[in-house]
Amino acid sequence: MHANVTSGAVLGVEAYRIEVEVDLGQGMMVFSTVGLPASAVCEARTRVKSALVNCGYGFPQCRVTVNLAPAHIRKEGTGFDLPMALGILMAERKLPSEALADTLVVGELALDGRVRGVRGILPLAAQALRLGLKRVIVPRHNAAEAAVVDDIEVVGVDHLAECVEILTGRAQPIPVPAFEEPPPEEGAIDLRDVRGQAVARRALEIAAAGGHNLLFLGPPGAGKTMLARRLPTIVPPLTFPERLETSIVASVAGLLPADRPLVAQRPFRAPHHTVSGVGLTGGGSLARPGEVSLAHNGVLFLDELPEFRREALESMRQPLEDGEVVIARAQATLTYPSRFMLVAAMNPCPCGYLGHPRRSCECHPGQVQAYRNRISGPLLDRIDLQVPVDPVDPRSLRAEAVEESSATVRGRVLAARAIQEARSGTGRCNAHLRPAELRRYCVLDARADAFLTRAMERLDLSARAHDRILKVARTLADLAGRESLLTADVAEAVQYRQLDRGASAGARVVARAQP
Ligand SMILES: Nc1ncnc2c1ncn2[C@@H]1O[C@H](COP(=O)(O)OP(=O)(O)OP(=O)(O)O)[C@@H](O)[C@H]1O
Ligand SMILES: [Mg+2]
Repeated sequence: MHANVTSGAVLGVEAYRIEVEVDLGQGMMVFSTVGLPASAVCEARTRVKSALVNCGYGFPQCRVTVNLAPAHIRKEGTGFDLPMALGILMAERKLPSEALADTLVVGELALDGRVRGVRGILPLAAQALRLGLKRVIVPRHNAAEAAVVDDIEVVGVDHLAECVEILTGRAQPIPVPAFEEPPPEEGAIDLRDVRGQAVARRALEIAAAGGHNLLFLGPPGAGKTMLARRLPTIVPPLTFPERLETSIVASVAGLLPADRPLVAQRPFRAPHHTVSGVGLTGGGSLARPGEVSLAHNGVLFLDELPEFRREALESMRQPLEDGEVVIARAQATLTYPSRFMLVAAMNPCPCGYLGHPRRSCECHPGQVQAYRNRISGPLLDRIDLQVPVDPVDPRSLRAEAVEESSATVRGRVLAARAIQEARSGTGRCNAHLRPAELRRYCVLDARADAFLTRAMERLDLSARAHDRILKVARTLADLAGRESLLTADVAEAVQYRQLDRGASAGARVVARAQP
């Protein structure tokens, strides 16, 4: 006797249709799973058997074979439990053969038959719709997440027995509550809280306007962390496709709250500096998205940058460049999106006071160099805005003057983004301009051209730094509502490359800053 149930698996953020084929045959009582199952799928046998017995359906007294097709895709996770149990009941004729027509089923079973939530329901439901299926049966915990996908019926179940009752028409599914948009969170933190720091505020605005990566460099207590945390308050709101993309990554990571299935705010991820390379970029034995993907369409904030492991930082180089992480594994290649803004903060030296106007630095030049060398040249190359943050002027902390609010700055950022969109029509901001677009949109006159050539030679800047300077200059002109790039734009953009100067220029900077 044979039965077939449609289920699905997620590789990276892509969902695939998996057919769960159940065959009951003559022979010894053996329950086997084939079709490249990983260990969690092999363990499903124990859960499925116990759940069926404990719900009173019994377990077939014959040879049970479950094949997960297609066999070339490695099957991970616990979502095949429910389709396997339903497939066995169908093969035993305890469920009508047409009960699961046009239906995709996923869910983990507890030993007593309860259905537990699984990861990746959102991409699975979207894939079910693309495949032309009419219905998904999912754990009730994930039902709201599946219901984000319009035009597909969502049945959420809490128990195997409840699922069987629904499929045999003896019970009606509990309707999934309509998804309600959460009220916008505003006002909790605001740029108005930051006193002084005009240069750093300007850099934050440029970063938000052009999607540029940013590094703050300054003494303890200057407000670096405070500024970085306010970046999400001045970036444009997520578009609907961005919300879906970000929600899918959260779904695959199992981080989507049951009552908030569609991410509303741009993510702001701030991993601790002890994070591993796998934690930062993803992968590992369980194939999870890393912090760079959880920050997709948002901000990744690395506070105390030199304290991060070098191998972890280096693993970010490819995602920073390509906007996606590609993880090659023995049986499959996984891809996670990772288009994020990198914001980092660090002190100028181990003691933190190099270049401080009032306190003297206790570090040896060699220590300073070693500290800075923890961040490799190629990584610095990818950070468009490297900005010194001076200590706060004590008078400005108690001054009466009201600082500019996030809403005002956001207005200018939105205007600059609108100019970029009108120009390219691609949805990509200046930081992600392609080489051909760079040549078309960042044309320099003779004076600005000569200035940039001179700066490149004197500061030993790389070809990548050259392109990034042009992109920042483009953003500066867009913020000013100007079409042409001026020498002043290029000069300001060069100013924002404080750290990644060639070895000789870098040594000169450190030597100059020494008291
Ligand atoms: N410019 C500022 N305006 C108002 N308050 C500030 C400013 N800078 C610092 N503060 C106050 O000091 C606290 C510490 O600032 P913050 O954590 O941003 O410093 P930091 O530069 O990140 O220091 P560290 O290098 O030690 O991490 C803030 O929570 C805030 O109360
Ligand atoms: Mg800090």
